[in-house]
Amino acid sequence: MDLQDKAFFLRTFGCQMNVNDSERIAGVLAAAGARPAERAEDADIVIVNTCAVREKSEEKLYAYLGRVRPRPGGRPVLIGVAGCVAQAETAELLARRPFVDFIVGPDNYLRLPEIIRRAGGPTVVADEWSIEWKETPEALIHRESPVTAFVSIMEGCNNFCSYCIVPFTRGREKFRPLRAIRAELAALSARGYLEILFLGQNVNSYRDPETGTPFAALLAEAGRMPGFRWIRFLTSHPKNFSADIVEAMTSCPVLCREVHLPLQSGSTSVLARMNRGYTREEYLAKAALLRQRIPGISLSTDIIVGYPGETETEFRDTLSALETLRFTNIFSFRYSPRPRTAAAKGADDVPFETKKRRLMEVQALQKEIQSALHKSLVGSIMTVLGVGPSRRDPAVFSGRNESHQVVNFRSPTDPAGRFVRVRITGAGPYSLRGDLVDD
Ligand code: 5AD
Ligand code: SF4
Repeated sequence: MDLQDKAFFLRTFGCQMNVNDSERIAGVLAAAGARPAERAEDADIVIVNTCAVREKSEEKLYAYLGRVRPRPGGRPVLIGVAGCVAQAETAELLARRPFVDFIVGPDNYLRLPEIIRRAGGPTVVADEWSIEWKETPEALIHRESPVTAFVSIMEGCNNFCSYCIVPFTRGREKFRPLRAIRAELAALSARGYLEILFLGQNVNSYRDPETGTPFAALLAEAGRMPGFRWIRFLTSHPKNFSADIVEAMTSCPVLCREVHLPLQSGSTSVLARMNRGYTREEYLAKAALLRQRIPGISLSTDIIVGYPGETETEFRDTLSALETLRFTNIFSFRYSPRPRTAAAKGADDVPFETKKRRLMEVQALQKEIQSALHKSLVGSIMTVLGVGPSRRDPAVFSGRNESHQVVNFRSPTDPAGRFVRVRITGAGPYSLRGDLVDD
């Protein structure tokens, strides 16, 4: 199919990395003459950009594909699947959803116009990997927000945590040349972007492939560029979170006092089985250093419950770590075996009911912690970046603070895209409430 004047609909599942990939896909399709459709029903091409990290995300893909599949007598539509799944499970995808017209892995998005031109017969599979970084020209990134920009700095992972599919879907680490990052930052600064989010599976291990410049130096340099108010980065690995990164963060107020640092488990023995490369004590020491050097810093994390062999005592270690660390936010998951991973070769021996109960315990404890953290903020005034109207009340707007907490507040005008001051008047476990402060 030729893309000129065709309507495409893009559905994205997964993390910010996938959202950023979708911004590229949309940009590449638009540059080839296609336009975005409001709904899948109106599109000539439907692309699902997926995540394969957990079993649940993959089930979402299959369910969604079932919904958008072409019906006999319905309008002709090309169906494509993009993202990690393409790399990991092409065979299963073809067996379960044979009507998929094309499958395209993360290193092949620039080739989409040509792939779509060939699609319509047998499924076209473009799952080649490249060892080198593939640069997407800034003009081909169709950014969703005029305020917050995602900037990819590395891709892939060399860590092989035993539960994780990412090294098999995104391949080995590859780093984006610093000069390309610099050029993108300069363009974003000139266009008035206020918030930057550096992205990569393990951003701390970043090194400029040309000069060896480390991540801490990239952060410090970005922090000195004009225009940006907040700079964040995602995801960090505790074992690579070195002191020079902490120092860069202390030296520059634009670098948000906020770090997402996946703990996964609070038990040293589980961490060893997971091949995480740090102990409970090492993690606690890093967190303590961050808290000491950057007062007021917020930490958030990922937790897996029910990893193979996890005993009740090991699980209790995770609960006690959560109590000690008091994260601003956590993402918690039941372990699910993923194809090709080391953990999937052994038994998935924690019963489902036990996993479910442990997940509920983790979430109940975290809910208490967050409620208390949020309550302690009532009465304070904080800077909030407005996002848009809240879902329930058109007079209430939603935004995020430096710690990335959700703040819902009353404001006479729509504060979307602006930094405003908000007085906090109330708090629940998942958000803060407040009123705009006139200044
Ligand atoms: N089962 C459950 N959770 C997983 N994650 C990664 N792989 C699995 C798995 N097999 C979680 C980790 C990771 C997050 C992105 O997803 O917590 O940090
Ligand atoms: Fe997966 Fe571990 Fe790499 Fe994170 S560090 S992407 S959990 S293998």
